[in-house]
Amino acid sequence: MSQSVLFVCLGNICRSPLAEAALRHECANSGMNVIVDSAGTSDWHVGQPPDERTVAVAARNGVDVSHLRARQVTTSDFRDFDHIIALDNQNLRDLEAMRPESAISKLSLLFDHVAGRAGEDVTDPYYGAEEGFDQTWGEVTEAAKTIRKWLETS
Ligand code: 4NP
Repeated sequence: MSQSVLFVCLGNICRSPLAEAALRHECANSGMNVIVDSAGTSDWHVGQPPDERTVAVAARNGVDVSHLRARQVTTSDFRDFDHIIALDNQNLRDLEAMRPESAISKLSLLFDHVAGRAGEDVTDPYYGAEEGFDQTWGEVTEAAKTIRKWLETS
């Protein structure tokens, strides 16, 4: 059975759609069948496409994310996904607070999967300049490589 991963940020329009796209791309390139999705802890952007700067940075790197739509994380996600990966420490705390007793998902922080960066947040580019999105893309693609290898051996 294929493994499943849910990435979670605040709005599900910047960081987690990029992490979703990066891991899906990485797994497809390696011929690995992994179910990848993303969601937000907030309901602020539910139903909306990713931020236009998110769509643009993904497109500059050869990946289309324009079809994605934001959704809010639900308690059933904790039963449906093997792994839920938070993009920052606040997202991780919010996920821990809503984690149901029946959860099967393993919760982790994205940068805990990257050597030398444990405990760090993926910077939220939403309020910053366009370059922030390139930095976020770099961070999530680096993490996607190690997460893919980790999934392969777990
Ligand atoms: P994300 O970024 O959590 O990476 O999707 C944000 C998106 C929207 C807002 C904040 C962060 N907002 O305040 O609406």
